[in-house]
Amino acid sequence: MRLKDKVAIITGAASGMGKGEAIRFAKEGAKVVVADLNIEGAQAVAEEIKAFGGEAIAVAVNVTKTEDILNCVKVTEETFGPVDVLVNNAGVFDKYTKSLDTTLDQWNFFLNINLTSVFEFSNTVLPSMVERGTGSIVNIASIAGLVAGKGGAAYTATKHGVIGYTKHLSSEYARYGIKINAICPGTIETPLVKDVLAGIPKDLVPTRTFGQVEEVADLAVFLASDEAKFMSGAIVPIDGGFTIQ
Ligand SMILES: NC(=O)c1ccc[n+]([C@@H]2O[C@H](COP(=O)([O-])OP(=O)(O)OC[C@H]3O[C@@H](n4cnc5c(N)ncnc54)[C@H](O)[C@@H]3O)[C@@H](O)[C@H]2O)c1
Repeated sequence: MRLKDKVAIITGAASGMGKGEAIRFAKEGAKVVVADLNIEGAQAVAEEIKAFGGEAIAVAVNVTKTEDILNCVKVTEETFGPVDVLVNNAGVFDKYTKSLDTTLDQWNFFLNINLTSVFEFSNTVLPSMVERGTGSIVNIASIAGLVAGKGGAAYTATKHGVIGYTKHLSSEYARYGIKINAICPGTIETPLVKDVLAGIPKDLVPTRTFGQVEEVADLAVFLASDEAKFMSGAIVPIDGGFTIQ
């Protein structure tokens, strides 16, 4: 088991990629905190994990609320012990909304969920990781953080921000034995993109396929595991080759 006894918080784990990561992490022996705004969904994922003998709890978290983040880390520490792995996965998509069609309120909505939460959640778990000289933070960015036009204005800005923040954070904390890396998924078949999937031609993807949550979960397991201890500030696309052309 590649994550045996590691304590992992996964945000946005009631659905899509976060759910896939939660299940995969538990199968690799991690004690998983399924953190999501959707508490019923999070509870269902925790139950699914327990049904195959894994360890998991569900915690209601709005990643834009400081008190929810603090409570999530507190409950995690009380239940399982200090946090070894944080996967900042929760995110919302702007469905390609152009800048002139984006209000300031909408901009702040995307910024708060997709980027500011990554800063705040990371800052909440980092002191204990620094003290223990170990830990892993995996940020779920996007190919929209690498190139333009794969999301709208706000989404693209937030995902570029996640990548910049990942690199910077790693430059500050890698020396303490903490791995901080980002995954950039291409189109992955999840509820987030179900409304726009039909409009994305598979011909644009060199593999001629969309990705599956299990494939992203496999990469997240690697980055969270000790196998990746020399990975630092890496920005890893998993996109069927979409961004090589
Ligand atoms: N699906 C794709 O094609 C794709 C591609 C690139 C990047 N991503 C990124 O992957 C991540 C996961 O996306 P997904 O496709 O699995 O989406 P999804 O919609 O299936 O799941 C997102 C989860 O985040 C939760 N969430 C939303 N706002 C929250 C908040 N304020 N606090 C706590 N939880 C919240 C939702 O309840 C949901 O369970 C996102 O960051 C997304 O931007 C997705």
